[in-house]
Amino acid sequence: MSARSVHITTFGCQMNEHDSERMLGMLDALGYAPTEDRDAADLILFNTCSIREKADDRFVAHLRQAAAVKRRRPETLIGVGGCWAQSVKDQVFRQFPFVDVAFGPGQVHKLAEFLTSDSLTAQGFFEFEGFTGHLPARRARDVQGWVQISAGCNQRCSYCIVPSTRGREVSRPLEELVDEVRGLVADGVREVTLLGQNVNSWGVRLRPHPSTFATLLRELDAIEGLDRIRYTSPHPQDMKEDVVLAHAECPSVCEHVHLPLQAGSSRILKLMRRTYTREHFLDRVALIREHVPDCAITTDIIVGFPGETEADFQETLEVVDEVGFDGAFTFIFSPRRDTEAALMEDDVPHEVKVARMERLVELVQRRAHERAQRFVGRTLEVLVEGPSRHDPSRMRGRCRHNKVVNFEGLAVPGELVPVEITGATSQTLTGELSLVARAAAF
Ligand code: SAH
Ligand code: SF4
Ligand code: F3S
Repeated sequence: MSARSVHITTFGCQMNEHDSERMLGMLDALGYAPTEDRDAADLILFNTCSIREKADDRFVAHLRQAAAVKRRRPETLIGVGGCWAQSVKDQVFRQFPFVDVAFGPGQVHKLAEFLTSDSLTAQGFFEFEGFTGHLPARRARDVQGWVQISAGCNQRCSYCIVPSTRGREVSRPLEELVDEVRGLVADGVREVTLLGQNVNSWGVRLRPHPSTFATLLRELDAIEGLDRIRYTSPHPQDMKEDVVLAHAECPSVCEHVHLPLQAGSSRILKLMRRTYTREHFLDRVALIREHVPDCAITTDIIVGFPGETEADFQETLEVVDEVGFDGAFTFIFSPRRDTEAALMEDDVPHEVKVARMERLVELVQRRAHERAQRFVGRTLEVLVEGPSRHDPSRMRGRCRHNKVVNFEGLAVPGELVPVEITGATSQTLTGELSLVARAAAF
């Protein structure tokens, strides 16, 4: 078989990054090698996201560029996978007739079927079946691996498109996940990130052996050679004491929890169908801090949800101030097709949304900056990723709290090194490789 090439563009969340690695792994087996050159690729692939309107717009611009390539080289194949593809499944070929194959997140394996079939007519695959986690992977990073612990989401957050693009929640069995992580560790991986839309509901509906997320954390922690476990995202409703205790007691579970708040007003949380109140969220934060005192806590917040008043927004500011997050992703509400909130009256004027966003970001950054000062003077363990983005004479990595650390000193990507922290901003830490601590560790 002559070598063919694939160019992939990935949009969206970490689950999509994971899914793209699986697409490339599967394509590898079919003789497709990845290329950076979209204009010369035999297969142009997009793994799409539809979480906010902006995500759609960005992607459509890319798709038009691919169409231009296909006009010059008609034998080029164009494939569109992921959440956007799933959400427009009925219209994709009508709207974009140059697309050859479209498939949702539950049908990645069908891409292979399409590429090896004799028929070149356009095809779409949109059932929810199978985990991308079952496909071979071509990992982008040598010592870090994604692990899909569940697919889909059983929550019904009124603003969110994900339940319709990824289907009902299904967990992968415990033994399968333990085996997968063992395999990754044998392959040199030191850090895994467990992925699911609501990781702490993992396992409860597994048959014949129901399990819990706390059990999964403990089982994975017992794997020899695994240094770090991360997970995203837990849901505040299901963040129970057993998970926090596992977090506290398992040495490889990192001191970081991404706990999405979404809004600080219980009235808005109810409209969002988040199934918890402001008090419950604050109580979960207190529980985490009681058992893992130094834990970094980050979050997601939406501003300008339909009906959000200035008083509601003030409550979001209050919670942000009170918790003091180590970081936050902030979004302006974006109405999504087929969601409940898209039918609500979008009554907050755009300029008010933008102004609220600015006020929120200012507070988030101020609190994150204050929180980060606790690291100055400490020596933190850093997993080295490569040269620093802004200053290639320095190295870059991440500490267990998930902060980017830029540091001086010689270190190799993939190494765990001690770094003495000398400075901290809301986003990054700076420091120097600690030769004393490094020598003491050997
Ligand atoms: N399952 C995860 C991640 C969901 S998507 C979770 O529940 O935490 C990531 C973030 O995008 C969400 O936490 C939310 O803050 C944001 N988001 C989702 N839908 C949105 C919408 N319609 N408008 C604006 N932000 C949205
Ligand atoms: Fe969307 Fe809510 Fe599910 Fe997260 S928990 S994916 S925000 S429906
Ligand atoms: Fe992820 Fe975007 Fe889908 S955030 S789950 S790729 S809609």
